[in-house]
Amino acid sequence: MKKVLVLATSYLDNLATHPPEQGRAKTMMDELVANSHGEIEIVYRCERNPDEPLKTYEFEKVAAVIADLEVYDRKLLSQIGIKGGGSLGLIARYGIGYNSVDIRAAADYGVIVTNCPGCNTVPTAEWTHSTILDVAGRRILHYMTASAGKPKKGPSRLDVSGKVLGIVGTGNIGKMVFKLMQGYGMKVIANDIFPDKKWAGDKGVEYVNLDELCRTADFITLHAAADRTIITAEKIAKMKPTTVLVNCARGILVDHKAVYHAVKAGKIWGYGVDEIWSDRELPLEGLNIIASPHVGSDTDMGKIRMQIISTRAVIDFLQGKTPKHIIKPG
Ligand SMILES: NC(=O)c1ccc[n+]([C@@H]2O[C@H](COP(=O)([O-])OP(=O)(O)OC[C@H]3O[C@@H](n4cnc5c(N)ncnc54)[C@H](O)[C@@H]3O)[C@@H](O)[C@H]2O)c1
Repeated sequence: MKKVLVLATSYLDNLATHPPEQGRAKTMMDELVANSHGEIEIVYRCERNPDEPLKTYEFEKVAAVIADLEVYDRKLLSQIGIKGGGSLGLIARYGIGYNSVDIRAAADYGVIVTNCPGCNTVPTAEWTHSTILDVAGRRILHYMTASAGKPKKGPSRLDVSGKVLGIVGTGNIGKMVFKLMQGYGMKVIANDIFPDKKWAGDKGVEYVNLDELCRTADFITLHAAADRTIITAEKIAKMKPTTVLVNCARGILVDHKAVYHAVKAGKIWGYGVDEIWSDRELPLEGLNIIASPHVGSDTDMGKIRMQIISTRAVIDFLQGKTPKHIIKPG
């Protein structure tokens, strides 16, 4: 008997618009079980809190897991990985990012890791677009005054049309944001450690270094798949009092203390971040800082793609085929 553990919190979600693909991944799982003659069992633990550290006993007989953001470190993988004497052979990450998995340790202990590239490109780009407009328009501050029955307070909204957009990270989401923002007739500059010069040439985008981008862009949107802070206090100091900074990638990309103080002191216009603001020492009330609880991909189609791609990886793996989208140690 092999088990498949499903920890992705939104795997069984009831979707808002009931698209025809709703439930397809679960049906794929049901067929896998039906065709296994009692050899495969699916264990759904979607209610499990990904912040809780994993325990080895949760992986007893588990051959494959559909993983949320819970952490798979070297110690755990050495115990649950197939080459460490455990049963786990596949971590199918439900999403794009895989920072939560020690990829080198997974390879050392015989665990294949896959992800779902492109699964949430469009929803995350849509969310970025709306966050750019909301920060430019000081929407949260206007909401606070209007909903309290008071008239407009503070400066006006910023124009977006005809301004300079700076995209940091021109992968799938960065390029989709470019596409969605095209109607505003903006000049677009970009920065990427691996610039896509063909795309830039075709689209009239100019790659510049990060300092120049911080100095000259009116709207800076971050889509770099980096796991370190790239927008430091020094970079923020180069921005203008009217710069809008948006981070719908990962919280760590921006020095949150530096950006907080810059917005508070009026050194930049505002900041939008798609992560929980967990620093209780730095209250957001009254500031043009918009936080959301990492919901960039949290739409029906975002979920459906993650469900189907991660389930496909599990089925391929259990049927002895090589799953798609394997992450190799760098
Ligand atoms: N908010 C959400 O819900 C949500 C959803 C999906 C993805 N994301 C995040 O968005 C980011 C982008 O996703 P994607 O699908 O476009 O990834 P991608 O792999 O297609 O593109 C990432 C790009 O970032 C570039 N890059 C990496 N390090 C960089 C650095 N230090 N400076 C500049 N560029 C750098 C890469 O060269 C690549 O072009 C990822 O961090 C991902 O985790 C967030």
